[in-house]
Amino acid sequence: MTGSSSLGPASFSTQANALMRKNLTFQKRNLRTNCCLVAFPLILCILVFAIQVLVNAQLDKPKNKCGCISKGVCGIEYSTLDQVGTCPIPSPPEWPALMQLPRPEYRAVNIEPFTDLPDESCRRTGSCPVTILVTGGNRSLGESLVGNLLTSGFSPNSSDVLNTFANILPGSDTDTELNNFLESAFFSNRYMYSVQPRCTTNSTFYVPIKIASITLQQEVRCVQGIQLWRNSSSAVNDEMYKGFRDGNPDRKINEIAAAYDFLNSNENNFNVSIWYNSTYKNDTGSGALGLARAPRSLNAASNAYLQLLRGAGVKMLFDYVKEMPKAGTKFTFDFSSLLGALFFTWVILQLFPVILSSLVYEKQQNLRIMMKMHGLGDAPYWMISYTYFLCLSLVYMLCFVLFGSIIGLKFFRLNDYTIQFVFYFIYINLQISLAFLAATVFSNVKTATVIGHICVFGSGLMGAYLFQFFIEDESFSRGWVVVMECFPGFALYRGLYELSQYSLTADSLGIDGMRWKNLSDSDNGMRVVLLIMFIEWLIVLPVAFYVDQVISVGSGVKKHPLFFLQNIRKKRMPSFRKPSLQRQGSKVFVEMDKPDVAQEREKVEQLMLEPTSSHAIVCDNLKKVYPGRDGNPEKLAVRGLSLALPPGECFGMLGPNGAGKTSFISMMIGLTTPTSGSGFVQGLDIRTDMDRIYTSMGVCPQHDLLWETLTGREHLLFYGRLKNFKGAALMQAVEDSLRSVNLFHGGVGDKKAGKYSGGMKRRLSVAISLIGDPKVVYMDEPSTGLDPASRNNLWNVVKRAKQGRAIILTTHSMEEAEVLCDRLGIFVDGSLQCIGNPKELKGRYGGSYVFTMTTSSSQEEEVLNLVHRLSPSANKIYHISGTQKFEMPKQEVRITDVFAAVEKAKSKFTIYAWGLADTTLEDVFIKVARGAQAFNTLS
Ligand SMILES: *[C@@H]1O[C@H](CO)[C@@H](O)[C@H](O)[C@H]1NC(C)=O
Ligand SMILES: *[C@@H]1O[C@H](CO)[C@@H](O)[C@H](O)[C@H]1NC(C)=O
Ligand SMILES: *[C@@H]1O[C@H](CO)[C@@H](O)[C@H](O)[C@H]1NC(C)=O
Ligand SMILES: *[C@@H]1O[C@H](CO)[C@@H](O)[C@H](O)[C@H]1NC(C)=O
Ligand SMILES: *[C@@H]1O[C@H](CO)[C@@H](O)[C@H](O)[C@H]1NC(C)=O
Ligand SMILES: *[C@@H]1O[C@H](CO)[C@@H](O)[C@H](O)[C@H]1NC(C)=O
Repeated sequence: MTGSSSLGPASFSTQANALMRKNLTFQKRNLRTNCCLVAFPLILCILVFAIQVLVNAQLDKPKNKCGCISKGVCGIEYSTLDQVGTCPIPSPPEWPALMQLPRPEYRAVNIEPFTDLPDESCRRTGSCPVTILVTGGNRSLGESLVGNLLTSGFSPNSSDVLNTFANILPGSDTDTELNNFLESAFFSNRYMYSVQPRCTTNSTFYVPIKIASITLQQEVRCVQGIQLWRNSSSAVNDEMYKGFRDGNPDRKINEIAAAYDFLNSNENNFNVSIWYNSTYKNDTGSGALGLARAPRSLNAASNAYLQLLRGAGVKMLFDYVKEMPKAGTKFTFDFSSLLGALFFTWVILQLFPVILSSLVYEKQQNLRIMMKMHGLGDAPYWMISYTYFLCLSLVYMLCFVLFGSIIGLKFFRLNDYTIQFVFYFIYINLQISLAFLAATVFSNVKTATVIGHICVFGSGLMGAYLFQFFIEDESFSRGWVVVMECFPGFALYRGLYELSQYSLTADSLGIDGMRWKNLSDSDNGMRVVLLIMFIEWLIVLPVAFYVDQVISVGSGVKKHPLFFLQNIRKKRMPSFRKPSLQRQGSKVFVEMDKPDVAQEREKVEQLMLEPTSSHAIVCDNLKKVYPGRDGNPEKLAVRGLSLALPPGECFGMLGPNGAGKTSFISMMIGLTTPTSGSGFVQGLDIRTDMDRIYTSMGVCPQHDLLWETLTGREHLLFYGRLKNFKGAALMQAVEDSLRSVNLFHGGVGDKKAGKYSGGMKRRLSVAISLIGDPKVVYMDEPSTGLDPASRNNLWNVVKRAKQGRAIILTTHSMEEAEVLCDRLGIFVDGSLQCIGNPKELKGRYGGSYVFTMTTSSSQEEEVLNLVHRLSPSANKIYHISGTQKFEMPKQEVRITDVFAAVEKAKSKFTIYAWGLADTTLEDVFIKVARGAQAFNTLS
């Protein structure tokens, strides 16, 4: 091992850099998964495209095309209404120009604040007259002009329909369509009107209207038109404004048919401005303007002026309007946009389980703790993970939009790309934050993935079959829709739905899709959705961070719910170390302690009085108490542990399962905080300086915490960077490290860790714990599950690593403890029972031989007698069907006596096997553990 550890803690950017590089390498290895991920939108886009092509092919069938009676006789006349749209129209039909009239129930009547209008009673019979307002510079001129506006007593000519309409003032209260190939007035079930000064009883007439091959009898009723003079154009304006419909039920609706302002007109100069209502249109969802029925109003005025000048005999007739001819079109329908909302919701949501499972994976595999213990702070972890997922999502969305655009889906092409970008960008940010939040709840990748996918498909389906229903149901409260949109899946669905609606109408009408200005459209939910998602993002991200710090499992120390206040509290009350007080508190234990443990405690107390960093690890009366839960009493996991380790010492910690070894190590590596007492690593307090301790600490956890797809070298590079190694020093350190654990030769270091054998993984874990020349290393059962050869290999590594650093090692293997450790401590029920080097312990607790003998079960009695003759105070410690084990005090027996006695016994009965052994460390361990447990149950 090279290098001095004078390198300080790695800076934020160094940590970020290390994590970023590791993540990128990890991604490079995951190429196949990534390709699949990116292929998902491609596949769905292609699927949608294929469906679109299929639908278009179906629609383009003859039955949807412009109709034909028989071969050769085709055209608009021979088509059904469904087919008409695709017909070539070489000579468009002629339609009489109509004036727009208000519906009978809305026509202006005499209600406050309106005066001089017809009586309200007409509304009940539906016979209200239509009102025309007039103003201008010269009242007498104006009034005589409008007198000519309306004509009466015209008899229809059924053989010349257009002429009939040209001679009256025809009007309709139907909504206009988007084009004039078919005038909607003739296709509704409403009758038409002729506006006359007064109506006679039999003024209704029928005119034949020939459409294609059928002839309709259109009913034309008379409606009275009244003209009222107003003093100024502002008065006219005001009156109209007061009467319009705005959906408010309290408002009095009084609609005016039209208004004329003759301005400065006189006999030499005709100057008129006309008010007309262009909002009578059939705009089911499209937002596009219908045709305005304005020309007839103008013609009426011009005709009146002409008649004023030249007399009633002269007429200016307005026969008809017609559209320009057009070529035949294909019947297409942008099906992709219709399907889009559901499919694309799935595509975008698909990222959620991906991010979630990736986050949970690092937690489940404890990789997050591992990184933390080697010095990776929470802030760089969050920043890099977030940025990383953001990049991933951006690339994914980019591919998605690109594929979609390239294969020509209208959904992408017609809507403004900047709106799409903003929408997707806000959403993916929200989604990542949500994944972070959700990740705090899960601790298992499989559960997380399954639940993530259920969310994806559930949200999509619920959106398409439930939520969309509410969006489209006008009677459903908009407020509740907004409430539902607070669920991010629905917000996404709504946004995509709006985009698809806009592209759908844009495609059918040949206009632009959604543009920024459309955000203010009354029924466009996009603006609200953007707002909701943005606000949610601002809320969810900090909440996720907070929850991760406070309740999350697997990210290390759970912080206090008010952890962010702790810094403030600390500043206010500087914490003094009060050795004298603590000493008094620990007196009780001192008396109970065994002499060797007491001696260690005294050594620690001495060290605490004159703090030096001559010892690598000093634990001062460390205690850990887990609070009682569900009625259980509180658990004392560690009861006042004092220990001092100089550099270069390997301390072995033995103890039965559940003795508190892991609690102790967890405190020392900063996973949990001690309840009382403290630990010092290189003179730094584990309660306050953990971040600095991490830089000089190495941990080899019980289970290998490795990324399957990264190579050994990449692992070491990552952890080396976290330990603030850079450039050539980093390379050298990694090289040395690989060499030291025998992973260098044959390019083993460049193989993926997933392909390593158990022993290689273990050695890599040890190498990770040793990289960066840590002064303190914790190894939790480093050789568990290794074959003897690998184990020896590993022991050599640890032995070499002992120089200059303190190692705390837990193990269940006595052999390992004997080989590696300079000192041993047996830890039972939260406290050290004895401490010393292996030889001392054996001497102290041994003091007896273990005599084993196997006979047939009938001869057990004989064996018992034999043993008692040899050693009266022998103690049976083990007995199972003929095999018995006895403990004989060394001072009572001589080995030669034993041999002689056994030889003699052999002649009396059959002995299958026998043996005599000195105490092993194992015996010491069992004895100490049993003794302590017995003591504890007594007390
Ligand atoms: C108003 O118009 C009438 C004709 O209709 C004309 O005789 C009269 O002089 C005009 N008045 C003014 C003030 O121009
Ligand atoms: C009706 O119109 C036709 C064709 O324009 C014309 O020949 C005929 O005289 C008209 N009949 C009446 C009663 O005006
Ligand atoms: C309109 O003008 C006439 C005469 O100039 C006047 O008598 C009448 O009060 C005015 N009406 C309004 C509403 O101002
Ligand atoms: C114009 O027509 C629309 C209905 O299409 C109606 O809601 C509105 O009130 C009308 N405006 C006025 C000023 O009459
Ligand atoms: C028509 O009236 C407008 C508004 O009063 C005026 O600006 C314009 O000059 C007039 N045109 C003529 C030809 O008098
Ligand atoms: C608007 O047009 C659609 C079909 O184009 C039709 O179903 C609907 O009834 C029309 N609405 C009105 C108010 O005319």
